Amino acid sequence: MYHIRMVPLRLGSRIVTKLMRRSLCETRARYSAVDTPPDVKVKASVIPKGIFGQPTCHTHPHLIAEGHLTCGITPHEFKERRDRLVEKLTSVPNHAHKTHVIVIPAARKQFMSDKIPYVFRQNSDFFYLTGCMEPAAVLVMVKYEPDSFYKTTLFVHEKDSHAELWEGPRTGCSAAARLFSVDEARPVENFSSFLHRLTATSKPAVVWYQNEEPPNPDLHDTIQFSLKQAHISLDDPQLALHQMRVIKSPAEIQLLKEACYIGSQSVNLAMACTKPGTSEHAISSVLEYAARCGGAQHAAFPPVVAGGTRATHIHYVANDQILNDGDMLLVDSGCQRWLYNSDISRTWPVSGTFSKHHRILYELVLSVQKRLIELLNEQRPALDTLFDHMCRLLGTHLQQEGIFPKNLDNQELIGKAYRVCPHHVSHYLGLDVHDAPLVRRRTPIASGMLVTVEPGIYIRPDDESIPPEFRGVGIRVEDDVLITDKGVEVLTESCVKEVRDIEAIVGTQAT
Ligand code: GLY
Ligand code: MN
Ligand code: MN
Repeated sequence: MYHIRMVPLRLGSRIVTKLMRRSLCETRARYSAVDTPPDVKVKASVIPKGIFGQPTCHTHPHLIAEGHLTCGITPHEFKERRDRLVEKLTSVPNHAHKTHVIVIPAARKQFMSDKIPYVFRQNSDFFYLTGCMEPAAVLVMVKYEPDSFYKTTLFVHEKDSHAELWEGPRTGCSAAARLFSVDEARPVENFSSFLHRLTATSKPAVVWYQNEEPPNPDLHDTIQFSLKQAHISLDDPQLALHQMRVIKSPAEIQLLKEACYIGSQSVNLAMACTKPGTSEHAISSVLEYAARCGGAQHAAFPPVVAGGTRATHIHYVANDQILNDGDMLLVDSGCQRWLYNSDISRTWPVSGTFSKHHRILYELVLSVQKRLIELLNEQRPALDTLFDHMCRLLGTHLQQEGIFPKNLDNQELIGKAYRVCPHHVSHYLGLDVHDAPLVRRRTPIASGMLVTVEPGIYIRPDDESIPPEFRGVGIRVEDDVLITDKGVEVLTESCVKEVRDIEAIVGTQAT
């Protein structure tokens, strides 16, 4: 019978103690030496005092520094992002001399059933431009003349004592304009008539709105109605936004470093807590517990905690089996810190010691992963090119180990490698785990991008083209890599991945 036990955050072995010598609860302090540059510092007085719909530096000084709107980000930075987006969209040649109306909806609340809400997750595009955490809000930016200023209106929920009794405090219109540094804030109920009036009186106009997969379907009909007017054209702001989002600012890099550090330590702790007989579910709880204690709001995605052959299912998230002595365990886990994500995969032996064949496969994947990081550093290939490198490297190494036959031509080798690793080797990482998805992976790599490097091999138990001793194993090693002018920086480097370090850490947590 399996008993649930609490896992204390007290660590046994020297290596773990060293890795986690700074308390997980001190993550922010660890990085506080990197301060906001003086030119973007904003006085605390810009942030109004009061109880609002989200934490502020006044109500949550342990989370948000003085003068910042959200953790690590100033109102100035949010405003500067809006300025840049408006500049980018309004300089599109075929839309010159039109009135530009940019509509970016927040996400709406999602319900598990009836009135039972899920934890709210803001639409990343809306958050990137406003810092506002409120569901069903709308950002509207209007620019009438090519060289004029633009006007920003934020639609939010007005204060309402009955709603606030159930849902907690709201910011309300009067404070929202000051808190989010916008020209005006209006009640969401007025959005429909506002947009209709605006589009009826501004001709010709272009409305920038994400029409496919709208972020808030509840608003979609309203927006469609306004779009039906003559002389209104529709365009999508998302590509321009994602081109901005894919290059991270210093403040974003700081938050991402923190998310990566917290995620790394939580995976280290999961290794330390792994023993034969532990459940995948318990390891999943350790990941979440450690991440939240370290300053993450929650997991970045449902983690994969896959022992034995279950690791050959790439999106295994049931996490409901018991870990056996001879199994390998594949974990893919990340955490979210103020909407910024980490994304880490590691694979380790449940017993704490690699078997001969598991070690061969693990070292093969690890050496490919390290070579890919070197290639990013040396050549800055686009992510699609990095994928081609992965297939070639995996194929060649598998051939050298005698796992793939020798008599394959180049194309056959790459095709066979793709069959054992059928996912891409990299994606951008940031406010979304698969960040800025409209930026193609053949785009040249640039400083300020954060990308994953995640080769894997997944050999099904019934794959008769592979020698039997290597079947039924899934291995992935995934790090988060920042591109800088000086080269690459592996933000998840504190997450153990060398064979000797893994063998030294697994199972060392006293339970
Ligand atoms: N965890 C999802 C991914 O690695 O892309
Ligand atoms: Mn990933
Ligand atoms: Mn991952």
